[in-house]
Amino acid sequence: EPLVITAKDEMRKWSRKMRSQGKSIGLVPTMGYLHQGHLSLIQEAHKHSHLIVVSIYVNPGQFSPSEDLSTYPSDLHGDMLKLKSVPGGVDVVFCPKNLYDYNNDSDEKQKNKNGNENLGAGGGDGNGVVSCVEEKGSGHETWVRVERLEKGLCGKSRPVFFRGVATIVTKLFHIVEPDVAVFGKKDYQQWRIIQRMVRDLDFAIEIVGSEITRDSDGLALSSRNVHLSPEERQKALSISRSLSKAKAAAKEGQVKCRELKDSAILTITQAGGRIDYAEIVDQENLKSVEEIKGPVVFCIAAWFGKVRLIDNMEIDI
Ligand code: PAJ
Repeated sequence: EPLVITAKDEMRKWSRKMRSQGKSIGLVPTMGYLHQGHLSLIQEAHKHSHLIVVSIYVNPGQFSPSEDLSTYPSDLHGDMLKLKSVPGGVDVVFCPKNLYDYNNDSDEKQKNKNGNENLGAGGGDGNGVVSCVEEKGSGHETWVRVERLEKGLCGKSRPVFFRGVATIVTKLFHIVEPDVAVFGKKDYQQWRIIQRMVRDLDFAIEIVGSEITRDSDGLALSSRNVHLSPEERQKALSISRSLSKAKAAAKEGQVKCRELKDSAILTITQAGGRIDYAEIVDQENLKSVEEIKGPVVFCIAAWFGKVRLIDNMEIDI
């Protein structure tokens, strides 16, 4: 039976107590609506630490006002049932209410007596980058950016996304103080960005990347899959199919990325998907490559109806 914690000072107190008893802590950050992909990260975390904290928080900082924050699926009750029965168990479920509300923080109380410092709507980075946090006017104005890595792939169509992810993950790291944190390779760029951030800013946290969990038909599991109609779901299989096809072709000697990408784009477009991007990039630095010479990852984002899906496949030849 996991302990449920909602207050960040309580979360930190628990972690410090456990660490003082010599226990290592693994963190699995999620936005809830858990599926087998999330649960596989918990299994992975068990290989690296004594105790497991799963955080559930739909982070407004990584959604732009035009994205699907308000329709992002949630089911805390269902999530708790899944976490209760996961092999190896979960020690703490951390589900904070609002991590951008500083009004009850003890060091902020004095200031609030002298008038609220909140900025109101507006803010952003001056380049038109505004998330749902600035839109609400919480007074929060500090962001972590991984400058080059955040620009490509998903960063192109979602300019606030990785700034929001890096910032919330930093906050979770400071609140939970884990020894290890596990991220899914499903969000490949996210994993690499967090790895880079942890290296660049000297976080004493090991970042583990965990393999993609797929349905038996190949579709990568995602909380957003519930929004797909049965027909859209069928069409969406073209993403994983085209990735497998590209991998097989590469193994057969097709190393020209233009050819591999064109073939995948055709498969997905013919199935009725709208491509956001299809890129073959270096696994480490995520720079686009023209010819496969070392370890690459083929990353695809595509729309099916109103649902944007991402998937990828590592190709090592
Ligand atoms: P969320 O989409 O809930 O995903 C939480 C974690 O589960 C991420 O590390 C993601 O890569 C992993 N995951 C999702 N689907 C997966 C699958 N099919 N196989 C393996 N892993 C999978 O990613 C986020 O939340 C947020 O951006 C977060 C990191 C929590 C910051 O807000």
